[in-house]
Amino acid sequence: WWGNVEMGPPDVILGITEAYKKDTSPKKVNLGVGAYRDDNGNPFVLPSVRKAEEILHKKALNHEYAPIGGEASYTDAVAKLAFGENSPVLKNKSNVTVQTLSGTGALRLGLEFITKHYAKNKEIWMPTPTWGNHPQICNTLNLSHKKYRYYDPKTHGFDLKGAIEDISKIPEGSIILLHACAHNPTGVDPKPSDWEQLSHVIKERKLYPFFDMAYQGFATGDVDGDAFAVRHFVKEGHQVTLAQSFAKNMGLYGERAGALTFLCGDEGSAAKVMSQVKIMIRVMYSNPPLYGARLVQEILNTPELKKLWLADVKSMADRIISMRTKLRAGIEGAGNKLPWQHITDQIGMFCYTGLKPDQVERLTKEFHVYLTKDGRISVAGISSKNVDYVAEAMHKVTS
Ligand code: LMR
Repeated sequence: WWGNVEMGPPDVILGITEAYKKDTSPKKVNLGVGAYRDDNGNPFVLPSVRKAEEILHKKALNHEYAPIGGEASYTDAVAKLAFGENSPVLKNKSNVTVQTLSGTGALRLGLEFITKHYAKNKEIWMPTPTWGNHPQICNTLNLSHKKYRYYDPKTHGFDLKGAIEDISKIPEGSIILLHACAHNPTGVDPKPSDWEQLSHVIKERKLYPFFDMAYQGFATGDVDGDAFAVRHFVKEGHQVTLAQSFAKNMGLYGERAGALTFLCGDEGSAAKVMSQVKIMIRVMYSNPPLYGARLVQEILNTPELKKLWLADVKSMADRIISMRTKLRAGIEGAGNKLPWQHITDQIGMFCYTGLKPDQVERLTKEFHVYLTKDGRISVAGISSKNVDYVAEAMHKVTS
């Protein structure tokens, strides 16, 4: 029956973890997947999440089905986290927010909804580069995807001029994908004043902004600061779509807690959109998983827990920043002649090192350091224990 099925390639990111697991070297380091590790290199359960688990355990809740779009206590809380406690678009109920299977589920559902119900130019424009799953999801949906300039390899920074030039030429009505903060894979974000310019040109071109916010809190350590772009666009009148994930900022990777929001302009349109989103969910996975969403809503809706969580997020962001400093100092201290300032300039979980494919291959083959082929490293995978080793390996493959 299945003999003619073609062998597919391993996933560009998750395939790295599969390869890492097979490596028997005691020196091995996984800097592939964006998953936070503590300073001993172990998976990290946030103290706020542990507390929420205890509370949930005591509540001894049942396991009935969640509503198709998720529990309102969850969707209301996550929408407020993104758009702001007093956001007018939430107050006037013009938003549709549903729980999704984390960020990927939100992207998939949102883009599928767009391919089915969006009547304008069905073309999506993405930053160069972007997260590998973005184009793959579009391919599955036969949604045409194109690129606008974003990252400047010369400066290792944001190419504002190139982005504005390209975006000014995007056909009206197209969808534009924007990473809300802590851009993946580059760790390079536009400044607030850059976002203001982007909002302006996107409005002028009558483009439809689709934000992916998988790292709220990881860019600056402050969840409100990281929501600047989304909130600014909303203030400027854009009817954005937003994908959210709690994989990283609550460490709920495998619990698949995310959300999708469509801003619909008014309550009547929101009701219609919600009816169609629910139909789409029902035939895909019926209704979302409960546990992760219960943890998220417990944290966001309990002031003391939320305070604890904000401190947890800040501590993760701070540890990553300190690893950036140590990694850069290690490479420079070894006498490496290349510039490495971008390691500390870039933000969020990732560093786009600039390593070439052959250098990446050497890092993995000779030093057992695993990273994606584009030279991205997850700084969250670096710890006090392995930072010297990683720095030495990066120095050796680049000199
Ligand atoms: C990553 O980019 O490493 C993460 O978003 C994990 C994933 O699913 O790719």
